Amino acid sequence: MADQGSAIDLLIVGAGMYVCGKGTDGFGTILPAAFEACRAGLVGRIHIAAQSEESAQAALAKAEELRKLMGVDAEVTVSPQGTEHDSRAFIKAAEALSRDSAAIISVPDHLHFDITRQLIERKVHVQVVKPLVPGVKETRELIALKKKFNVLGLVEFHKRFDESNLKLRELIEGDALGELLNFRIQYSQRKIIPTRAFRNWVEQTDILQYLGVHYVDLIHFLTGAKPMRVMSYGLKKYLVKEGINTFDTIQTLIEWRRGEDGDFLSSHLTGWVDADTSSAMSDQRLEVQGTRGRCLVDQKNRGVSLSLDGKGVEDINPYFTQLYPAIDGKNKRAAGYGPESILSFLRDVQNIKNGVSHPAGLGGLRATFESSLYVAAVLEASRISLEGNNCWVDASPLWAEV
Ligand SMILES: NC(=O)c1ccc[n+]([C@@H]2O[C@H](COP(=O)([O-])OP(=O)(O)OC[C@H]3O[C@@H](n4cnc5c(N)ncnc54)[C@H](O)[C@@H]3O)[C@@H](O)[C@H]2O)c1
Repeated sequence: MADQGSAIDLLIVGAGMYVCGKGTDGFGTILPAAFEACRAGLVGRIHIAAQSEESAQAALAKAEELRKLMGVDAEVTVSPQGTEHDSRAFIKAAEALSRDSAAIISVPDHLHFDITRQLIERKVHVQVVKPLVPGVKETRELIALKKKFNVLGLVEFHKRFDESNLKLRELIEGDALGELLNFRIQYSQRKIIPTRAFRNWVEQTDILQYLGVHYVDLIHFLTGAKPMRVMSYGLKKYLVKEGINTFDTIQTLIEWRRGEDGDFLSSHLTGWVDADTSSAMSDQRLEVQGTRGRCLVDQKNRGVSLSLDGKGVEDINPYFTQLYPAIDGKNKRAAGYGPESILSFLRDVQNIKNGVSHPAGLGGLRATFESSLYVAAVLEASRISLEGNNCWVDASPLWAEV
């Protein structure tokens, strides 16, 4: 292991699918990335704060298995212990952290605000899984708090690290496509997500907020544009019959303004009622039309397709979170744009601890809390539109300085 002199402590809040692959055969994204960070000497100790002892022990078992697979000598502790349920275990864990520690918050969307707020108040640098928070007011409060306590606050929008998106960003920045006209996004997941995986909090989010939000952030990231108006139309046919009161699909139109370049439009069709036998958990494609050309980024068909007896066809994404053979030929290493997004945050925190960087100076390609103001404005405007006969809603007053 590399020199641990300046290694940081890492607190992971939540112990679900994204943290450690709960309910799946895999290990999620956050834990594999954290182990890679230990191997690189970025992280010394890892603590996972769940809210039940059962979840904490299940995460510890996943960690033991992964530690052997990856051959990483990582110190992992979990809480709560000795009590069945404690939704404040993360606070006790935060109090035991050393100066300039990092926390990754991966709990259901509606809990992001309160947990993030309490960690910032304890001067912990935070990375929050998307969406930061569903509303503008809460986003502004978190921006003010992270400035007050001088900590780094980022959002784990990993699509910013996908090289196919970085290629598109270069094309747009270099004006290869000409003036932007239209973005067309199609992004959907299998029925198993709302009916099983997130059954206990599915009605506290919606499909644009949970999934479509990735491409709202991405369009701002690719173009620097700001959302002016939003209109959403949702349909309820399948999930309501399953006793789940949420939209099957939401179709959203966003009007964006890009400085002198004028306006362009994006259309987002998001859904979570794909067949469970579909060839990928996430079906996603992005098409951009400009005055000089068109670019299609097919993010489902990445060129690796697997068909096995009795299992149907699976389109694999080899570029998101994967465990690949390490150079020693024996162990596994965590790779892909999922882990990279987390490693990038942990590198930032280590640089802050070493006095090389300061939280206020870390912008660039990062998904900062400030950039999530535009995302929150779109989510809020979309909810207003859904509740108000699918009318156009002005988003600019939501993000503009008051
Ligand atoms: N699953 C994915 O692929 C994915 C990808 C990116 C982002 N996300 C986001 O990550 C977040 C979590 O998603 P998930 O898939 O892990 O969901 P999940 O439902 O599998 O896990 C959430 C976990 O948070 C725990 N939790 C709730 N309150 C807590 C508290 N006070 N302290 C500690 N733990 C608490 C729950 O017990 C649960 O185990 C969501 O915001 C989701 O949008 C998920």
